[in-house]
Amino acid sequence: MNWSNSEFGEACEQLLIPLFKGVDRAPNNALSGLGRSQRNLVKEAISSDEFEGKKDQRMVIWTPGCRVVLIGMGEKDGLGHRLARNTGARVMASLSKKKGLSVCVRFTSGWSSDRMLDFAEGMMLRDYEFLEHQEVDDKHIADPWSIQFQSSPRYQEALSEGLSRIHSVVGGVHLARDLGNEPANVLYPMEYARRAEEWGADKENVTVEVYDWDKLNELGMGGLINVGKGSDRKPCMVLFTLNPDADEGVQRPCIVGKGITFDTGGISIKPSSGMWDMKYDMCGAATVFGLMESLHSTGYGRRVNGIACLAENMPGSGAYRPGDVFQTFSGKTVEVFSTDAEGRNVLADGLWKAGEFDPEYIVDLATLTGAIVVALGNQITGMWSNDGEISNRLKKAANISGEPVWRMPLNAQFRKYMTNSAFADIRNGSIGGRAGSSNAAAAFLEFFVPNRGYDEDAAKIPWVHLDIAGTAWGPGSKARSEGSNPLFQYGTSGIHVRTLHRLITEG
Ligand code: BES
Ligand code: MN
Ligand code: ZN
Repeated sequence: MNWSNSEFGEACEQLLIPLFKGVDRAPNNALSGLGRSQRNLVKEAISSDEFEGKKDQRMVIWTPGCRVVLIGMGEKDGLGHRLARNTGARVMASLSKKKGLSVCVRFTSGWSSDRMLDFAEGMMLRDYEFLEHQEVDDKHIADPWSIQFQSSPRYQEALSEGLSRIHSVVGGVHLARDLGNEPANVLYPMEYARRAEEWGADKENVTVEVYDWDKLNELGMGGLINVGKGSDRKPCMVLFTLNPDADEGVQRPCIVGKGITFDTGGISIKPSSGMWDMKYDMCGAATVFGLMESLHSTGYGRRVNGIACLAENMPGSGAYRPGDVFQTFSGKTVEVFSTDAEGRNVLADGLWKAGEFDPEYIVDLATLTGAIVVALGNQITGMWSNDGEISNRLKKAANISGEPVWRMPLNAQFRKYMTNSAFADIRNGSIGGRAGSSNAAAAFLEFFVPNRGYDEDAAKIPWVHLDIAGTAWGPGSKARSEGSNPLFQYGTSGIHVRTLHRLITEG
């Protein structure tokens, strides 16, 4: 979308006026740019009993040359960021480009600049399609929207600064969605790496390093090697650094993502009914990439590290097997209980690698367990942490971003379920079986969070694990039908790009 902000002026081909409950006459400036007969039509509509400004209420008024849409926002005092953002998204979804690409959104009395920005963010997030691999019909309009956000003079500065930031962050969300929506035959580990290198090539303050198959073997990254070796598409690790020369000697965040470009389950193969979704099993790595883009394009000047752990989990004569014991990058050994518990294996190497950056904290994101979808559904991410301070900060950033997380337990019971293998240091499945298996998976990851400086006597690095198996894509993700989250229609959500951008830049 092309966006701009301005004072009240022209009315555009489509004029959106969000109004609060109880409105009985057109607020000041709501009708500017309209001719006398147009004004009368809109005035009458607003004063009529038909439009009350209730939440979710819409009224379209056709006037010559301008389609006016009144949008009910509910109680003025009840308008939080969530309702503003979701309404913006729903409005975006209801607009048709055929009715005119030029749109004015007019924020009149009762709107704060923060809520205006939330509304705009909802519109921008929802303005997304993924049509890479299909023929679009002739009627489809590919030209971007041109949207003018209008409000009184005193908000202009906050609006132009805020809209520019939001638009850049949303660009990162959309990049993450693109990566997630790509089918696994197109986006395999080294293709992600190629795109990352291409992305970094023209940016001065970014480095992208790729550990390919040979390098993984040289380093002994057994998690990535074992999960990926059954596929012809070999695994790799991609290391992003934003502003590598900044903050020398200062501890900075490191974000690690699970990037299984397709998860068949491997030899512990999945039933075919649940396999379709597994092209989305790289959404953690997609968020890492999208976050780097959003940080870069908002001009963030401090150092941030990102690590994507990429592999395709396939069965085959070269694949790893249940019962295998392999050594991870940390030196610790893993007994394979199920080849389908592959995400934790690749993350073991990523988390251990993160320690080399001496990070302030590590956040990992992974579509890790089916059990978290059962526990929390599609709107709340599971969060585990060894540190109350960083997890609280993340939770706050997530709430404000409308990407809520819920803290789950790490405890001795689950640690024991994982670490009492007879044959290795840890097993990648729990003897507790399905009971609490998301917690068991988190306990496995915790085992690979390095102590500061890899010093056994030092404390573990503060770490947060986000299980995004339920939130990286929604229930309405297979067809272009409406899912329950208005911020995206189908496919992947790009979850937590905004949360992490906020945590890193504001937290
Ligand atoms: N990628 C899956 C988790 C998943 C399942 C995400 C369904 C989204 C929807 C993960 O690799 C997996 O297979 N986990 C297993 C772990 C088990 C074998 C211990 C699971 O959740 O069943
Ligand atoms: Mn799996
Ligand atoms: Zn998986």
